[in-house]
Amino acid sequence: MNARPDAASLPIRLADYRAPAWRVEHVELDFELGIDATEVAAKLLLRRDPAQDEPLRLDGENLELLSIALDGQPLPTTAYRTIDGGLEVDGARDGSVLETRVRVQPAANTALEGLYLSGPRETGFLLTQCEAQGFRRITYFPDRPDVQSGYTVTLRADRARFPVLLAGGNPDGAGELEGGRHWARFVDPHPKPSYLFALVAGRLEKIERDYRTADGRDVQLKIWAEADAIERCHYAMDALERSMRWDEQAYGRNYDLAVFHVVATHDFNMGAMENKGLNIFNAKCLLADADTSTDDEYRRVEAVVAHEYFHNWSGNRVTCRDWFQLSLKEGFTVFREQSFSADMNSAPLKRIEDVALLRRAQFPEDAGPLAHPVRPAEYHEINNFYTATVYEKGAELVRMLAGKLGAAGFRRGTDLYFSSNDGRSATIEDFLAALGEANGVDLAPYLAWYGQAGTPHIKAHGDYDATRREYALTLAQHTPPSAQQPHKQPVPIPVKLALFGTDGHMLPLHLDGQTANGGTELVVVLDHAEQRFLFRDVAERPVPSLLRGYSAPVILECDYAPAELALLLAHDPDGFNRWEAGQQLALRACDALRDGSDPQAVTAWCDALAALFDDAQLDAALLADLLTPPGEIELAEREAVVDPARIHALRQQLQQRLAARLGAERLDARFRRLAAQTTAALDAASQAGRRLKQRVLQLLALLDPALACDHAAVQYRDAPNMTDRLGALAVLARHGATRSVEPLAHYRARYADDPLALDKWFALQAQLPGEGALARVQALEADPAFTLKNPNRARALLGSYASGNPTGFHRADGAGYRYYARHLLALDALNPQIAARLATVFNGWQRLEPQRRDAARDALAGLAAQDRLSRNLAEIVGNMLRG
Ligand code: ARG
Ligand code: ZN
Repeated sequence: MNARPDAASLPIRLADYRAPAWRVEHVELDFELGIDATEVAAKLLLRRDPAQDEPLRLDGENLELLSIALDGQPLPTTAYRTIDGGLEVDGARDGSVLETRVRVQPAANTALEGLYLSGPRETGFLLTQCEAQGFRRITYFPDRPDVQSGYTVTLRADRARFPVLLAGGNPDGAGELEGGRHWARFVDPHPKPSYLFALVAGRLEKIERDYRTADGRDVQLKIWAEADAIERCHYAMDALERSMRWDEQAYGRNYDLAVFHVVATHDFNMGAMENKGLNIFNAKCLLADADTSTDDEYRRVEAVVAHEYFHNWSGNRVTCRDWFQLSLKEGFTVFREQSFSADMNSAPLKRIEDVALLRRAQFPEDAGPLAHPVRPAEYHEINNFYTATVYEKGAELVRMLAGKLGAAGFRRGTDLYFSSNDGRSATIEDFLAALGEANGVDLAPYLAWYGQAGTPHIKAHGDYDATRREYALTLAQHTPPSAQQPHKQPVPIPVKLALFGTDGHMLPLHLDGQTANGGTELVVVLDHAEQRFLFRDVAERPVPSLLRGYSAPVILECDYAPAELALLLAHDPDGFNRWEAGQQLALRACDALRDGSDPQAVTAWCDALAALFDDAQLDAALLADLLTPPGEIELAEREAVVDPARIHALRQQLQQRLAARLGAERLDARFRRLAAQTTAALDAASQAGRRLKQRVLQLLALLDPALACDHAAVQYRDAPNMTDRLGALAVLARHGATRSVEPLAHYRARYADDPLALDKWFALQAQLPGEGALARVQALEADPAFTLKNPNRARALLGSYASGNPTGFHRADGAGYRYYARHLLALDALNPQIAARLATVFNGWQRLEPQRRDAARDALAGLAAQDRLSRNLAEIVGNMLRG
């Protein structure tokens, strides 16, 4: 703590990368486990790079060194010294063996990095989190991903207190010790970087399943959780099996150990972690049952289980050379996870969900003071770079590459990538080279995407010449400058497109110089600042459908007339672009309401949706999404000066217009029909029905809140699952103030002992808009169940308030900012990673209207002036104020 990102502490730079001077060929770890103190003995077989002449330096933080010996000889204190964040040792040679013994304090570890305690000290269990740099809080080690070692791990502990002992790799013996203690050993046959090490010890229950891989290996799948949660792990087990099959078929990847452990904890900084053979999950991303999980949460569990499993190849077998390459594993794995989810569920709905997330989370990041390339050039604190840009934009880049190569070509490319980099730590260049080489194409131009921050804007303009029957489409790209990069290069942007006739049919395409003529969809690549594409034999003035399936992560500006967007909304068979046309039309409608200009777009949007409302062909979940305009964050992104209260009011007004156009009777009738079909089933149709039902109820509440609350009260009482229960509660809390008091209390009592369900109770109330929000949040903070020490709980209350409640957080008087900044400071003393993550909600503060902007700046400057900030929070706050 207290290293600050100023001139005194220099950033880590990609350009400074050097191969390690010392490697560890093999490491033997011995743990004497205890809640308050754990002793770790490490035996490192060292290998020296003959080309380098560096002393042996090991990373280490918060370690109490008990003993140290080199090649069997205890070292005198003159032969080693602690340096900033580590240890320097004299006299090591190639082949030397270094032995250290250190003590760490799991129960005192509130940062949840390294070895820590989950739950109460009497009953909780011990576990580790090492990515990115937590291993150095367990033992002295070259804690960097390009050092890969064989691991032999022995755990010793009191049997009654720690009946279950787990580490990554294959089991290699276990037995009893004196005094009620026992031991267990694990050997990992696959060399791995230290960030993939893990152990778990404590009282845990398990469910098991036998699995045989496509290449014939028998694997035991075991999911572990505390006793009260173990029955909620069956869905994750099914999802795991589906993921393993899918990776065999889609990528030819088989699992490679005899056991695969998955563990759930309530105390976790992130969603989950792909430790080799021992994945550890935030319980929120693993546990699922009808009584406590919403449909969205079920899908999230499936996706995260898949994500961590897929890392076994994209991350573990092939890992990253350095942390700048983080997107090599994360972007690729998110893409793999998205493809899996699309195959398991609905592909267009998944695409809509992913793009909505990209726009809500990544675009603002890319447009603000925290903007960084998918492969950053420098950082102070790597944990601050597990961002939407590295993950979600990174996944979009892989998607573009996959699209360019086609399914078979991409598979050839990934096969070559995996085989030629297996067991290595690789770079983004290695990835592009393998994909390109397998297909005989040069993908080097795509590297520009990885090095450049900011979202490209594309301007599209069409000209139709009726006499020549020609349609000329002009595309131009521009990426706005960012703090570090004033000048941006053009990047290759694949634009998948179709042309529509006025009757709503796609026209055959004849593009100059492009083969496969006569089809109705093709991809053009915009790789210059501006290009013109000429289509011949076009029978009528067409309506272009551009960036179909969202073929590139860009912002498209096209001079559509409202009626043209309405035509695409009514007819585009590309489910994503159909939704997109509706979103664009809704944005136009918002502009019209804001400016008091021609209301044509409002009418066109409402009419188009009214026409689709009873379309029996339309998927209910897609209809629910079509009926939802872009969110307040997206609306704010388009404004030069942001007034969150005005944006909220505008969006409400737009939804009001839609509700009025549909009419209370129609909405009520639709709600009743959907409510009559309610079951607890999880199939796609049932989920879609619930999603639409909730959307219809929300719209009805805008017209007739009393009636909507009547429906919600009944739905809350009779709900057979959490989706219906929470949906009803949200409508009551939002529209029925006093009518929500009793059900909120009922929910609080019903789920008093269920942390995940209680988190939803905090989050729901923290997101209720309006002036009363801050007082409500303060009251919730006084609830005995609230604690800053649990990341899920802190996120549920503070995160939901700041990022899910624009009007409540962005109070004009700045009280929301001051309250929040105080809590960030308190949180920072406990858990810097979470504090830094939650601080990013201030992103975009510079564009707030002056009164709020000044208040936000004061809150940030007040934080920056503190002299005990963690490196994590100091970097975020510093960048925010600089940008
Ligand atoms: N690799 C994990 C994943 O699957 C994320 C772990 C990040 N941990 C951290 N402390 N930044 O996405
Ligand atoms: Zn990941």
